[in-house]
Formats: sequence, structure tokens, C-alpha cells
Amino acid sequence: MTDAVRSAYRERAGEYTEALGSLSAMAEGDRNFIAGWARDIDGPTIDAGCGPGHWTKFLHDHGVAVEGIDMVSEFIDGAAARFPEVPFRVATLEALPADDAALAGILSWYSLIHTPPADVPALLTEFARCIRSEGTLLLGFFEGGQIEAFGHAVVTAYYWPVPLMQDELAAAGFEIVETHTRVDPGQRPHAAIIARRRSWIR
Ligand SMILES: C[S@@+](CC[C@H](N)C(=O)[O-])C[C@H]1O[C@@H](n2cnc3c(N)ncnc32)[C@H](O)[C@@H]1O
Repeated sequence: MTDAVRSAYRERAGEYTEALGSLSAMAEGDRNFIAGWARDIDGPTIDAGCGPGHWTKFLHDHGVAVEGIDMVSEFIDGAAARFPEVPFRVATLEALPADDAALAGILSWYSLIHTPPADVPALLTEFARCIRSEGTLLLGFFEGGQIEAFGHAVVTAYYWPVPLMQDELAAAGFEIVETHTRVDPGQRPHAAIIARRRSWIR
């Protein structure tokens, strides 16, 4: 599935960046939520699955020591050209370029939406490996009443119920700090969760 997602985004990286790669195309509620999270981040952070890199640039401009990573080199090349002051590199969510407990934060903004649901726990565990005690993860995704596939414009994506995602986060070593849901007219339901890495020493 990762290969299918990579190929699909490779073909449409330019189109995606044109349509969705700017902050002006983002909901004000999302900008405020992410900015609020950024205020509490103090240390190295990864924008995991950064796509066009506009959120990476946003975090950078909010004083976060952030690097954007994505498996699609077309996105990374485009982001590096548009935002030369921000670090970007090609990498995968399965093996983030960070040592154990090295990060203060991870933004995963709609980057797990294409992951087959059975593979989501392993990626959350990889996020947990990289985040230090008390560091936080901000996860954005499509909310639904059940885990269900749908025909996303780029490639198959999945709705997740908030309680099930919260359970997966808890199982991976996080505690829920804040959950936000919203339905904008004409848009799919949105959810965002801020989760704190539980202490490594228990
Ligand atoms: C819906 S886009 C979101 C992009 C960006 N975060 C945004 O908000 O516009 C999903 C992104 O996640 C990336 N992605 C999905 N699975 C990945 C994986 N296993 N490793 C690295 N990147 C991945 C895709 O390449 C794509 O850029």
C-alpha cells in the first residue's frame, strides 16, 4: 500500500501543492489549533508526511525547530524550493529519522489517512519511540462513525472514529490532552488530537 500511496502522490504532487499547499487554503480553526500546539513545543520536531511543506513552514515561523519529512521526493524537492530556510528530507513514517526520545513533538497532519488501519498502531508506536517523555503528537484525520475506506481524490483513505483513535494512541504510549472535531460545509468531518507521550520510566 505504501508504494501505491507514493506513486499516487508522485503523479499529483504539483496539483496537490497548487490546490492545498498554502496556508490561505487551510481552515482558520486548523491554523489556530496548530499554532496553539506549537506554542508549547520546546525542542526538535518533525512534520511527518509534510507533503507540500506549508505546515512545516508555519511551525518554523512560529519558532519551532522543525524538519519536514515525506516519502514523496517531488513534495520534498518542491517544499525545499519554496521554503529554503526550512529543512526537509525524504523519509518514511515507518522509520522516522530520529533517535529514541529525541523529539519534543511530531505533527502528523492527515499523513496516516491512507495507511491501512491494521498498520496504524505500528506507526503510532514509531511516533512514540521518537517522542521524549511529555513531548506531544498532533494528529489530524478524517472522522467517521466507523473505520471505513473511501475514495479520496488521490488514493484510498480511511475514516476513523475518535474513540478508536484515542484507544490506539493510548496503546502506543500516549495520553490524550485535547481533541477537536469540526464539520465544515461541503467537507468531510475533521478530527485533531493532541496526545502526550507517557513517561518512559513507569
Ligand atoms: C493527505 S497528504 C497530507 C500532506 C500534508 N501533511 C498536508 O497537510 O497537506 C498525506 C501525506 O502523507 C505522506 N505519507 C503517507 N504515508 C507515508 C509514509 N508511510 N511515509 C512517509 N510519508 C507518507 C504522503 O506522501 C503525503 O504527502
